[in-house]
Amino acid sequence: MEDRPINLSTNTQVPSVLKVWGETQLQGHVTVSGAKNSALAIMAGTLLCGDECRLRNIPALVDINHMGDVLSSLGLKLNRQGDILDINAQDITTSKPPYELVSRLRASFFVIGPLLTRLGVARIPLPGGCAIGERPVDLHVQGLKAMGAQVRIEHGIVYADIPGSNNRLQGSNIYLDYPSVGATETILMAATLAEGETRIENAAREPEVVDLANFCVAMGAKIQGAGTNTITISGVKSLHGVDYSIIPDRIEAGTFLVAGAITRSEISLSPVIPEHLTPVIAKLRAMELNLVTDAPNCLRVIPNSLRGMDIETLPYPGFPTDMQAQFMALLALSEGDSVITETVFENRLRHVAELKRMGANIRLKGQQAIIRGVSMLTGAPVAATDLRASAALVLAGLAAKGVTTIQGLRHLDRGYDNLEDKLRQLGARLERVPQEEQDLPRDETINV
Ligand code: EPZ
Repeated sequence: MEDRPINLSTNTQVPSVLKVWGETQLQGHVTVSGAKNSALAIMAGTLLCGDECRLRNIPALVDINHMGDVLSSLGLKLNRQGDILDINAQDITTSKPPYELVSRLRASFFVIGPLLTRLGVARIPLPGGCAIGERPVDLHVQGLKAMGAQVRIEHGIVYADIPGSNNRLQGSNIYLDYPSVGATETILMAATLAEGETRIENAAREPEVVDLANFCVAMGAKIQGAGTNTITISGVKSLHGVDYSIIPDRIEAGTFLVAGAITRSEISLSPVIPEHLTPVIAKLRAMELNLVTDAPNCLRVIPNSLRGMDIETLPYPGFPTDMQAQFMALLALSEGDSVITETVFENRLRHVAELKRMGANIRLKGQQAIIRGVSMLTGAPVAATDLRASAALVLAGLAAKGVTTIQGLRHLDRGYDNLEDKLRQLGARLERVPQEEQDLPRDETINV
């Protein structure tokens, strides 16, 4: 898939680092892009029909390009113009995407459900673990097996087949031990073309799951209850193409709200769907920040003092794990003590060490980070460990005294649509420069 130009301002052959000048004041308005985690699942969902689908509001991200490469490797035709992506899955030429493509993007695994229910067969490499955790797919596999699929894992490949001649999965009642976003999406997509009714109990309720369900309904699927913990899907024989617009990215929006808060700046952002940000807005208001809804889809953050507080990450509608790192940077500069408990991923606190290099007072105790607010952070060379940690380090750099140099920018490019340009438009000073080996720690090859 031809890549929509992502604004890499320097030669991408030489590893580059991002320099962030601190003590920044931001002002103005920022436009929020389409939701990465919706777009990735919905791109996989286009496999469910043989017509062309037009997807709108698609963000310019490396992850989107990687998912496009996976779909192209399956024989799909993709064409991108700006934030519009046309995908035609009429001719699927193989049931097995190459390992080297799947290993670059964990979300590639989400093609297993649509591929299996459309073709009757899928051969998907296990995506493997990543920096934030082992990321198993057992709930995806259990769901497909409950629908009658034969699934075995050999040599790192998941072999899934529909036995017998009728080539259709069977509707089933499935209880998820954990409200996994990906497993809910895999089962939901597989069930759209299954024979009979499927009920997913303890389903994930994230807005991106609802967006995927709405996309499938627009294609002719019969789905009830998306956004609740019980989703019911009545299988149909086939689905048709659709023109569909992705929801705005609540995590990007939350990241910009924190950018305003941490720099004590008044900024506004749109489009947003405020109810997708309820836990984030509630926490910011509890920290005594003013948040105003200027228009139905526009939020404005007004600087105020910042009071420390406790946060526990939970499945939606709890506080999102994808906002945990950004809030840690903010709480590091808030008054008083705070405790962040990460309950979703087992290894998503690696940014603590990097924030401490900038002067943050944080102590790790298992899955908890105990934070004592300091009055000032200082710029330092730091390394991003995952895509949300990279955003957190940029935010910390904007507020710190001096210049922060961030390496591991591939994480940033994977998850944010031109974050640097958007921050520059608000008045920030950031610059990508070639990495000088001698003044930065070794860059770990970490893949999220
Ligand atoms: C999705 O990942 C998102 N990615 C993640 O966003 C997000 O952090 C996560 O949901 C939680 O909200 C996409 O949508 C592409 P899960 P996913 O399955 O589906 C365990 C970002 O920063 N689990 O809800 O992989 C798992 O180990 C990324 O944008 C199983 O045990 O998340 C984890 O501990 C990071 N078995 C927990 O569930 C399974 O079969 C939540 O994972 C599946 C998951």
